[in-house]
Amino acid sequence: MTQTNNNNLNKTVLIGITGGIAAYKICELIRMYKRNNFNVKVIVTKNALNFVTELTLATLSQNEVYCDNFDMKEYKPEHISLCDEGDILVIAPASANTISKIANGICDNLLTSIACAFNKPIVIAPAMNTNMWNNKFVQENIQKLKDNDYKIVEPETGYLACGTEGAGRLCALDKIYDKTVEILNADLPLKGKKIVVTAGGTVEKLDPVRYISNFSSGKMGLALADNAYKMGAEVNLISTFNVKRPYVVTVTQSAKDMEKEVKEEIKSADCLIMTAAVADYRAADYSEQKIKKTAEDKISIELVKNPDILKEVSQNHSKDLKIVGFCAESENLIENAKTKIKNKGCDYLVANDISRKDIGFSSDENEVYILNKDLEIKHVDKTSKDNIAKKILEYVFE
Ligand code: CTP
Repeated sequence: MTQTNNNNLNKTVLIGITGGIAAYKICELIRMYKRNNFNVKVIVTKNALNFVTELTLATLSQNEVYCDNFDMKEYKPEHISLCDEGDILVIAPASANTISKIANGICDNLLTSIACAFNKPIVIAPAMNTNMWNNKFVQENIQKLKDNDYKIVEPETGYLACGTEGAGRLCALDKIYDKTVEILNADLPLKGKKIVVTAGGTVEKLDPVRYISNFSSGKMGLALADNAYKMGAEVNLISTFNVKRPYVVTVTQSAKDMEKEVKEEIKSADCLIMTAAVADYRAADYSEQKIKKTAEDKISIELVKNPDILKEVSQNHSKDLKIVGFCAESENLIENAKTKIKNKGCDYLVANDISRKDIGFSSDENEVYILNKDLEIKHVDKTSKDNIAKKILEYVFE
């Protein structure tokens, strides 16, 4: 099975199950999608429920299971709302009956109605007795579906539940899963790109119990990593906090650790986005023992400069790496940002005003100005960090 590393966050797979013994195998297919962060909604024909229970499917998919639309308590045009929600429809096992109905525009149950109304990709994994599979009309209908861009995952030849050998056995579940991922990833704008994002405030230790850090929440970096991933990129988030994500997360603490990881990761990357609030200084000497209170009212800690990761990599990198810096300013936002982009040498600098209480640091919203090397400025009005992240990625990769 392809280990997916892109874009499944918030993608919904509609799985249609028809009446065939292979229906029991779809329980494992649902788990594959769930393990890889897909939302799953199951639609069954009445006959499918002879082979697998509604409770099993609801438990595995963690969603209501949809059957036909005539016994509902309140009016809900489910075939339309499910069509809106689903990014792809996978019908497995697809019986000769359902295949033939879909190929002829017949909508006599919820699943065939959804298939008729669905205007996004449809994957069909047939499973049936060999003679049914070889039936002239079934084959004509399969051809008709192929000609109309339905994706058929061909059945395999082997031992069938009805006791015969031949073509018609549901293909391996990996094949259905991989086909789904291949289709969903096909036209993502950042497919094939590797993006490294840093996030959080670095932690500079003074002794075994104390450290210097800052109030950065890491939310902007996380929003950028999530959105890059959803847009199809391979993502490595180098972060000062741990977070469970379907892409690679590397936890670092100090500026020096972060520098090491960033330099390693950008060797194979297309873009580096430095949202981390990197401490400019660290303690000159780390004390192996806890620093004890003294009789003095005042003590000083000597600090030494940390590497400026953004500046260093911007000035020493391969030509085709895009580098995006961030700057948080409490005054003269644009003027400081212009000076900073020239000084650091990065390709873009995203500036935001931290003197405002309604945006920035731990807030879920932000308002930013994106500067490029020619000092052109794009203003992104106050909106969620998620939207800001999308706009930054679109601008940088436009
Ligand atoms: N940055 C970095 N290494 C540092 C300091 C900052 O890579 N030692 C990066 C940040 O990740 C950010 C950008 O530089 O992308 C700007 O950070 P900022 O703190 O605004 O700039 P500084 O260079 O630290 O300048 P100052 O704090 O004086 O404004």
